[in-house]
Amino acid sequence: MNNTSQFFPLVRHSGTQELALAVAQRIAQLAAQSIGARGAFRLALAGGATPRLCYQALRELPVDWAHVHIYFGDERCLPQGDAQRNDSMAQETLLSYVPIARANIHCIPAELGARAAAQAYAALLKNLPPLDLVLLGMGEDGHTASLFPGNPANELSEVVVPVFDAPKPPSERVSLSMGTLRAARQRLFLVAGSGKRDALAQINQGVQLPALQVGAAEWHIESAAMPQDF
Ligand code: 6PG
Repeated sequence: MNNTSQFFPLVRHSGTQELALAVAQRIAQLAAQSIGARGAFRLALAGGATPRLCYQALRELPVDWAHVHIYFGDERCLPQGDAQRNDSMAQETLLSYVPIARANIHCIPAELGARAAAQAYAALLKNLPPLDLVLLGMGEDGHTASLFPGNPANELSEVVVPVFDAPKPPSERVSLSMGTLRAARQRLFLVAGSGKRDALAQINQGVQLPALQVGAAEWHIESAAMPQDF
């Protein structure tokens, strides 16, 4: 039974380059729509490795960067400038190449430690309209942002949550909460690699993994990650 109702809309991509370019073009399209409608595009970037190619493609596309505000779905509690931080990856692949004001790049101050950083970032977000688009990756266990299966952080009602004991190093992180991810106008997943197949299959069966719990999303999945029965 080819039931992919959990993944609607679902876009299948032949490889990682095609996935990256297609999502970059989709982001540019959503940016133009958002700026046209509301005068700004508030975009939360995903971390991890999958978005790298997408960000490299996005920097080449026509985007009205003067009206874009960048946020982050999560951050690892590492020193500022650490190469393993999600904001470092975004700077390296995208933000240092585009004409965006530094003041419009809103990094999570994860160097302060999870609790202080979550409070500071929540204070920033709570006076803002909902994010227009949240880009999300998915881990092999079905986590997204830094919301991991069974972690108490998933149940917290704050806008931004501290995460401890994350199984993906570093164990201390900061994440937009489940509620904040759900409140965004749109969510878009980028998923690649055969290691993600099992989590996608579980989600397809309705298993309540965090990547499913964030709510309706546009799923862009590379063929290697597709479970057999999709
Ligand atoms: C992180 C990310 C995390 C990531 C997934 C997928 O800090 O690592 O926020 O949620 O998106 O783990 O990572 P890959 O794209 O590297 O597979």
